[in-house]
Amino acid sequence: MTTVKTLRELRAAIAQARAEGKQIGLVPTMGNLHAGHVSLVEIAAQRADFVVASIFVNPLQFGAGEDLDKYPRTLAADQEKLLAAGCHLLFHPDVAEIYPHGMGDQTRVSVPGVSEGLCGASRPGHFEGVATVVTKLFNMVQPDLAVFGEKDYQQLAVIRALVQDLNMPIQIIGASTQRAEDGLALSSRNGYLNADQRALAPMLYRGLQAIAEELRRGARDYQRLIGQAQAQQKDAGFQPDYLEIRNAVNLRPAQVDDRHLVILTAAHLGSTRLIDNLVVELPGQ
Ligand code: PAJ
Repeated sequence: MTTVKTLRELRAAIAQARAEGKQIGLVPTMGNLHAGHVSLVEIAAQRADFVVASIFVNPLQFGAGEDLDKYPRTLAADQEKLLAAGCHLLFHPDVAEIYPHGMGDQTRVSVPGVSEGLCGASRPGHFEGVATVVTKLFNMVQPDLAVFGEKDYQQLAVIRALVQDLNMPIQIIGASTQRAEDGLALSSRNGYLNADQRALAPMLYRGLQAIAEELRRGARDYQRLIGQAQAQQKDAGFQPDYLEIRNAVNLRPAQVDDRHLVILTAAHLGSTRLIDNLVVELPGQ
């Protein structure tokens, strides 16, 4: 695996892979890689001949007071994991390589609709930052396919909409959420949790499973289910951000006759913000 920091080197390596007739797969990340990221690279390696991963902590998607400065940077360990997972090329640019004219005058990509509400409400500008950097990475790498995790369900929906709306010839593949044995979704931010918080954290997912169970048993009073689960989050010591039941396909608020549902939540444990979601497929009528 080769690591490159500049767009010039990236384009040269891609041009060579293209000249060899290879299909190119891209896995964008912010580094501090765990088994969730690794699973994305493995999927890309199964579906493409030449796998490019990027590690770039994108300042444009962090709000004021968020964890941009303390976001963990673990390049050497990340390189080992990428190599073992079948990555061929790592793009690890500096901020100046991606935003050479600064971020103020940077052209932005915004995706209305699916960006609104949920994380879009609690993190203004976040999805614009994500859509902008992902568009840039797509134009830099020009992959045939790109793999994103369902862990960030709304982000995946934003990227699917972006690719469709801007007619980008890139296949977007969603990968299932990798979890610790106790159910906690793997996340670079789990490293911020102290031992007590880490012990509490799996409750977030258990709350989603409890709602899913009730939905499968026929419950449709979404507000009651949400109220119960948020009260449990609070009692356990979380500060709830949102908990919503939405249509899994278009992310609109769920209607009583919807069959493809997704329950999405975000909550703080101390200063750490955790997110999770669970798709629920109900049998047709
Ligand atoms: P990051 O948080 O590093 O995540 C990179 C990719 O890994 C995303 O597609 C994310 O959904 C996926 N991922 C994270 N945790 C996962 C888990 N437990 N199981 C499966 N996949 C998981 O998401 C970003 O970076 C950035 O917003 C980015 C898309 C790179 C744009 O800057």
